[in-house]
Amino acid sequence: MKVLVVGSGGREHALCWKIRQSPLVEAVYCAPGNAGISKHAECVNIKATDIENLIRFVKAEGIELTVVGPELPLALGIVDRFTEEKLRIFGPTRLAAEIESSKVFAKNLMRKYKIPTAFFSTFYSFEDAVRWVKEVKPPLVVKADGLAAGKGAVVCHTEEEAIEVLDAMMRGGIFGDAGSRVVIEEFLEGEEASFFVFTDGEAIVPLETSQDHKALLDGDQGPNTGGMGAYSPAPVVTPEVYKKIMDQIVVPTINALREEGRRYKGVLYVGLMIKDGEPKVLEFNSRFGDPEAQVLITRMKSDIVPVLNAVVDERLSEEIVEWKNEASVCVVMASRGYPGDYKKGIEIKGLESLEAMENVFVFHSGTAFSNGKIVTDGGRVLSVTALGKTIPEAIYLAYSAVSKIDDGSLYYRKDIGKKALKYL
Ligand code: AMP
Ligand code: GLY
Repeated sequence: MKVLVVGSGGREHALCWKIRQSPLVEAVYCAPGNAGISKHAECVNIKATDIENLIRFVKAEGIELTVVGPELPLALGIVDRFTEEKLRIFGPTRLAAEIESSKVFAKNLMRKYKIPTAFFSTFYSFEDAVRWVKEVKPPLVVKADGLAAGKGAVVCHTEEEAIEVLDAMMRGGIFGDAGSRVVIEEFLEGEEASFFVFTDGEAIVPLETSQDHKALLDGDQGPNTGGMGAYSPAPVVTPEVYKKIMDQIVVPTINALREEGRRYKGVLYVGLMIKDGEPKVLEFNSRFGDPEAQVLITRMKSDIVPVLNAVVDERLSEEIVEWKNEASVCVVMASRGYPGDYKKGIEIKGLESLEAMENVFVFHSGTAFSNGKIVTDGGRVLSVTALGKTIPEAIYLAYSAVSKIDDGSLYYRKDIGKKALKYL
């Protein structure tokens, strides 16, 4: 079969790389893709949000399965439009994807179905929100209702900071309409983990556990980014915690969505805070994480295509997914200045030297070709991923690979995976 992957990041590169290995697949396309993806898929110059042109392309090429990477096309209803056209697509409908695209919807769903999460209130006016901040006292977390490219949640340690953030979101319009409603929630302490499941709306197949590193700087300091690195498995998720995540969070959420008439098909991403063995939901996302996909997909032993097909065709209960025992670690190399302003077009040298390294996979995010060379073209540039027998081995291998391309022009964290070591 022919498969189209929608998106252009490290997550989509990992998906194309894995899908390309399936004996069921004769061709992989990626829209729009990037320089690295073009090694594993034919890149097509159509934006991920240009749904009507994607439909035309899929029909013209006879593509039998489309896999959506990022959240924006899902929130715009790509799955609904493809389904209307009788085209097979992996991902949730617009209404099901509201679990990510509306924090208010997600929080209300959790309240209604008693799914453990931070205490919260919703605000439609700046004045009411400020009154609340003065009453409850920081630390607290202000969250824009809509999609804000990972920047919509701000942890506020002082009253002034909270009011400043509320002003920017609700009156300054920094996130446009997405910030006109906000959720203010209790600050949760603990350790974060990411938990993913494949689901067809009834059957659930969990992926392995993982942890992202959202903050820019070592020791989880500095501003939040899309993710500076990840590792899998995440030992903070003990077997007891795993059971609680499934019983108290994942199963009730999938059932709740079905009961609400929003049957969820695709990958559900649960962002968790874990304290004293008790998991609580920080957020849901309607897709694979980036860079979590890079570590999870490199650990996946089974062919991914039958699983994607089973989700689309609502027969996931027949699928068994096998995982490698090895640990995986991904170090993100980013343009200096990210998540703020940064330069593009800087040549990335040394990529060839990594090709011969066993158990090292370099997934590209913001890269492009320029005069036959690979250059930077975005904030996050490369996801250098390595498999090892243990997390320390995978960390060592990932950083050995990073050192071969590190000429000082890209920034990366030096402590990816370190948090796992205290459990070993
Ligand atoms: P979200 O977009 O809701 O996942 O928030 C982004 C990041 O903000 C999370 O990964 C956490 O690091 C932090 N965060 C969000 N909500 C809370 C909370 N209630 N307590 C503490 N930290 C939070
Ligand atoms: N790694 C965080 C995200 O994909 O949203």
